[in-house]
Amino acid sequence: MKLKEEVNTLIKKAFANAGIEADSITVTDATKPEFGDYQFNGAMALAKQLKQNPRQIAQTILDNLETGGMVQKAEIAGPGFINLWLNPEWIAASCQNAEENDRLGIGTRSNPIKAVVDYSGPNMAKQMHVGHLRSTIIGDTLANLLEFLGDEVIRQNHIGDWGTQFGMLIAYLEEMGEEGNGSLKDLEQFYKDAKSRFDADEAFADKAREYVVKIQSGDAHCLTLWKKFIDISLGHCEEVYEKLDVNLSRDDVRAESFYNETLAKVVEDLDKAGMLQESDGAQCVFLEGDEVPVIVRKSDGGYLYATTDLAALYYRANVLGAKRISYVVDARQSGHFKQVFRVAKEAGFVPEDVKLEHVAFGTMMDKNGKPFKTRDGGTVKLIDLLDEAVVRAKAAITSKENYSEEELEKIARIVGIGAVKYADLAINRESNYIFDWDKMLSFEGNTSLYMQYAYARIQSIFRKYGKDVEGEIVIGDELEHRLAVMLLRFEDVLNKAAEDAAPNQITTYLYELVTLFMRFYERNPILKEGVDEQTRISRLMLADLTARTIKQGLAILGIQVVDRL
Ligand code: ARG
Repeated sequence: MKLKEEVNTLIKKAFANAGIEADSITVTDATKPEFGDYQFNGAMALAKQLKQNPRQIAQTILDNLETGGMVQKAEIAGPGFINLWLNPEWIAASCQNAEENDRLGIGTRSNPIKAVVDYSGPNMAKQMHVGHLRSTIIGDTLANLLEFLGDEVIRQNHIGDWGTQFGMLIAYLEEMGEEGNGSLKDLEQFYKDAKSRFDADEAFADKAREYVVKIQSGDAHCLTLWKKFIDISLGHCEEVYEKLDVNLSRDDVRAESFYNETLAKVVEDLDKAGMLQESDGAQCVFLEGDEVPVIVRKSDGGYLYATTDLAALYYRANVLGAKRISYVVDARQSGHFKQVFRVAKEAGFVPEDVKLEHVAFGTMMDKNGKPFKTRDGGTVKLIDLLDEAVVRAKAAITSKENYSEEELEKIARIVGIGAVKYADLAINRESNYIFDWDKMLSFEGNTSLYMQYAYARIQSIFRKYGKDVEGEIVIGDELEHRLAVMLLRFEDVLNKAAEDAAPNQITTYLYELVTLFMRFYERNPILKEGVDEQTRISRLMLADLTARTIKQGLAILGIQVVDRL
């Protein structure tokens, strides 16, 4: 349920009843329980316009408020705030609805769109690094979220599979023969070895250069080698995707090379649009106010990263028909995206009504605030990092329960990978992110383990109860009231998080929800003797709704729950 919208509608109606014109009316979540559930503080802004004092305006609104069974109490406070309390019976009925619905009462958009989410995008000539980890995790969440809300999501993995490096790499792959396949497991090393061959041996270097030209002109042998190289590299990325449990498949790959055939046309169209200028032999677009131009073709005829992105924008907007195109890429590329978005719009490659956004994220740092590296300064291999997460998760959970070996393995994977994902998603994505094992694998605080633990606890309550739960939700006290309202806010949170492409709004919500639930559970016993059955059933239902909300929230973040922890 879009709770806030419903409350807004009431206030809007009151305005209409009072004959006051106001364009943007929005309530906010109350910051303290004593302020009710929602607050309206728009009267202050209207005071000038209406030449009345804010309290007077607030009074007029109250006089015209039709509560419709939804609002129990509305009071004027301070200089002219209106504090609103929702009606417990209305809340109970709404929770009951949510509980009986397999989508927790959450609707799908009335106007779904096609949305492209561009994420992961590793480079085939290099090891997948921690920057791609962030892109993969955040991008997958955004895609899941939009999908859950009803959009048609098209995932696009814009892998870097083209460029002069590949001449050297495939020449080396050829030289290595069968052995090459295995050594490609460590791309960083493979690249280094190829490079030393290149530097040491003139004949090899010549061959590498010749192969660059040959791939570009479509030579069959070189293309076969190149395809093989990409296939093996991508296979290694897929191992990471598999471990990470993200929804990216081969079908989602639209590599840079996919756009090769259309690059000349991009330049041609820019020329036709009168946007091209030559500078030192290169073809450039100079944007007003920008110091550096967007180079779309080098003087040697080669195309660039930006040219490919312009071709991709054209494809996504016109062939795929996307109305929202989100690029989940490192913040350091924000200059690049600002420019290509502008060029694409000005050249008419992308219709005006298409939303283009750079979902930027900060750099991953170690505990000391330094860029994330191995002890000897090398790049951390993602696959190793994920394996370590599982090992550490095992250590964190073994003390709690007696698991079979098999169970332990499975749960440790869910907990470990979940911790890595959650920690990444829980911060404001644009900030740099400090990678800290101990913090992310803690049972306390805003961690996935805290959420998974709460979920498992609720499951254990149900195991102990051992009977079907059927009955009615009744809001008993203030804590239950707050928990229920919090549960009903879930849809608002998801919608806002989707609009802002901000997964941390979901984690913040989950943390507040679970914290509130833990307090509720401490004070309002469920199975304890002496609790009457009607109250018990109602509390069980609230607990179940909480568990399902946690599960759904985590699912959108790409994290699973377990029944026992
Ligand atoms: N391969 C790029 C990198 O590693 C990321 C690709 C992002 N997507 C895009 N359409 N440019 O930096």
